[in-house]
Amino acid sequence: MTERLHRRQFLGQTALGAAGIAALNSTLASGADAEQNKVVIGVMGMQRGSALATRFAKQPGVEVRYTCDTDSGRAESGASKVEQTGAPRPKAIGDFQEILNDPEVDALICAAPNHWHAPATILACAAGKHVYVEKPCSHNPWEGETMVQAARKHNRVVQMGSQRRSSENIKAAMEMMHNGAIGRVYSAKGYHSATRLSIGTGEPAEVPAELNYDLWQGPAPRTPYMDNRIHYNWHWFWHWGNGELGNNGVHSLDLCRWALQVDFPIKVTSAGGRYAFEDDQQTPDTHTVGFEFKDRKSITWEGLSCNGHNNEFATFYGENGTIVIDANGNFTQYDKKDKVVLEQSGNKGDDEHIVNFLECVRNNEPLKLNAEIEEGHKSTLLCHLGNIAQRTGRTLHCNPENGHIIGDDTAMKYWKREYEPGWEPQV
Ligand SMILES: NC(=O)c1ccc[n+]([C@@H]2O[C@H](COP(=O)([O-])OP(=O)(O)OC[C@H]3O[C@@H](n4cnc5c(N)ncnc54)[C@H](O)[C@@H]3O)[C@@H](O)[C@H]2O)c1
Repeated sequence: MTERLHRRQFLGQTALGAAGIAALNSTLASGADAEQNKVVIGVMGMQRGSALATRFAKQPGVEVRYTCDTDSGRAESGASKVEQTGAPRPKAIGDFQEILNDPEVDALICAAPNHWHAPATILACAAGKHVYVEKPCSHNPWEGETMVQAARKHNRVVQMGSQRRSSENIKAAMEMMHNGAIGRVYSAKGYHSATRLSIGTGEPAEVPAELNYDLWQGPAPRTPYMDNRIHYNWHWFWHWGNGELGNNGVHSLDLCRWALQVDFPIKVTSAGGRYAFEDDQQTPDTHTVGFEFKDRKSITWEGLSCNGHNNEFATFYGENGTIVIDANGNFTQYDKKDKVVLEQSGNKGDDEHIVNFLECVRNNEPLKLNAEIEEGHKSTLLCHLGNIAQRTGRTLHCNPENGHIIGDDTAMKYWKREYEPGWEPQV
């Protein structure tokens, strides 16, 4: 094992004094230092993962050693994209276990479908790897709680891919709100619109030669291969995905929760359905969810997957005004009479989120993450609760300490899924 790994293990396992850690951290800040403290990563799921892999490859002191996909064509094209950045070509592989087995790999980047997020993260933590896991961090609430346990047990750096947490402009908007710029912020609204088309009616089909469908399914109980689920459309089936709420809703709900400084709701309601098309899609294309919190605060989320009417991404309502953050990280502040008083442009924080993850990996500081897994779990849980309210057709009453559903055994059945034998995560 390399010297650099010894150093990181030393930091993780010894009681180095605070002054010593600060001194050591300050030596890690520059690009040259980063080169000397190389972080080796493997990326799993090479669609979103290709974008992440190229961003990671452009950071100083990062080696993208593996591009992994159960679709061999995507594993290879991901490797080519990394190579095009000027970095060495990663090894294109099909099974992420190879990443976990490599003692020189520091971190797994998981951008596989949602049903893979928690199982892969938990296995990676147990193998001693840090993890950058895409949003939503889990497929069901139990998985989110289990991921937090795994990160704590193995003292790993686990970041959720809610990149806006690292946007300087969004951080500035949050700081303004927390300092009273629009008075007490008591309500917020998240919004997403798109012009998605029908996914049609699927037929049983031969598994494409380039796809390892068994490993693609992994933790999810086996179902026959159908011709309209892979790639991407799995989002709209409960077996693997979490609908638009878990797909895009989690981004704006995360900001709503951050602005309002709330963790778990006390009440959740849902209305909507598959209204725009009649096809195989199980998750709503038109969805409105309401969350109530203690201390007179609420959040609503509206998703329109098949109507592109433009609206604000996240809006925050206060006693003395309003702040709107758009999907690109720009914000506008309005006074009480709805007059614009400030406009500030920014970005979504994609590179900054990666930089924050790398810094925390290098310094072994999980709790300096901008979207540490416990925060990621809380925002993802809002999506799960909204979907459970939708699927049961009930109002959910929740424990404000942990979000657990109170007095409704039927709704709590959705807290956890069934796993393909041998795949249930263990901590
Ligand atoms: N943070 C963001 O802004 C952002 C943006 C896009 C997607 N995402 C997230 O990224 C994830 C992937 O989304 P997508 O649009 O790329 O979906 P996709 O279906 O297009 O791609 C997923 C890829 O993962 C591969 N895969 C499945 N199981 C695998 C395994 N065991 N090992 C390796 N590869 C495996 C599939 O073959 C496929 O190529 C989703 O969870 C999504 O929510 C996040």
